[in-house]
Amino acid sequence: MTADTPGTTNTTKPADTFVRDQWYVAAYGSEVGRELLARTVCGEPLVFYRTEDGRPVALADRCVHRRYPLSESALDGDRVVCGYHGFTYDTTGTCVAVPGQKRVPRTARVAAYPVVEQDSFVWVWIGDPARSAGTAPPRAPWLADTENYTTVCGMEPLDARYELLVDNLLDLSHETYLHGGYIGTPEVAATPITTEADDENAIVRVSRHMDDAECPPFYARSTGIEGRITRWQDIEYLAPCLYLLHSRIAPTGVLPEADGSDPNGFHTEITYAITPSTATTTYDFWAVSRDFARDDEEVSRFLHDFNREVVMQDVVALNKLEKVIAAEPDTVQELSINIDTGGLAARRVLKRLREAGRAAGAPGGAETGTAAGAAR
Ligand code: FES
Ligand SMILES: [Fe+2]
Repeated sequence: MTADTPGTTNTTKPADTFVRDQWYVAAYGSEVGRELLARTVCGEPLVFYRTEDGRPVALADRCVHRRYPLSESALDGDRVVCGYHGFTYDTTGTCVAVPGQKRVPRTARVAAYPVVEQDSFVWVWIGDPARSAGTAPPRAPWLADTENYTTVCGMEPLDARYELLVDNLLDLSHETYLHGGYIGTPEVAATPITTEADDENAIVRVSRHMDDAECPPFYARSTGIEGRITRWQDIEYLAPCLYLLHSRIAPTGVLPEADGSDPNGFHTEITYAITPSTATTTYDFWAVSRDFARDDEEVSRFLHDFNREVVMQDVVALNKLEKVIAAEPDTVQELSINIDTGGLAARRVLKRLREAGRAAGAPGGAETGTAAGAAR
């Protein structure tokens, strides 16, 4: 376990910041069907679709002939037929037909990407496909657990590099200022955090437990609690893509039972998937899963609309930051304080993963890159 020290650091430039040999959320399962879906993940343009028997497929989104986007093309059964001159690809990316001749050139193929559908997400492996063997994306099981949770969700594209969203989510003290009147109250910024970095598994944990806090509208209106609350925020960032905020709310002084059960607490699992698209754009997938008022559609509507507003407050702020950073020279420094310990730990973990991916990808590179976190 290590902790990072606040101080001054340069902001990183966007080039070459992707972590390879990792799973990334590319879409919700509900977005992938018999229509072709274009998504760019870590700078790689991809096309997604589902086979007739329901399996998700990801191929490179550029025809080998003249680079036409396959996502602008058509499906014929399980095959993609390029919309320009008809090169036809199977689910492995192999070209099986070209127009005007019987012989298909041997090199005619596009890359096929490993794909896993899990917890309502479609995950794609970015990096060397061989290195995905034996690994699995990290879990957010409540997303597909309709017995015990009700989930509302969305995805907002961000015109900012993914590191800015990582920073934002690992420091929730900004709730007090950027999300005042929504999820922020004075106690969030005022309460110190504890931070743990598990370098081995590429996980950063940040906790903030408020024993006696104002109840923000987000929870007052969804739980019906009147008066002050005990509010716990326990973050797990499973780098690079998955961020979990385990939130517990209860009337002040109401704690879990000695056996660990918690019948009087209100639990919300807030999930983000932070997927780099290009060097300066990001897919911001968000989901709010609750174990209370599960059949109340008004609560669902409220949480969806309210959380989307909160996410958009972040999006607007981070888009501004991206513009500021892009306009500044590399030498500008930023100043970090105690609230940034989680964000700094995340930066270090990402740096380490990036270097491991690079070493593994380089000719003669290390065989020991861990694809950290992928087998969690
Ligand atoms: S560009 Fe796809 S067939 Fe020509
Ligand atoms: Fe925020």
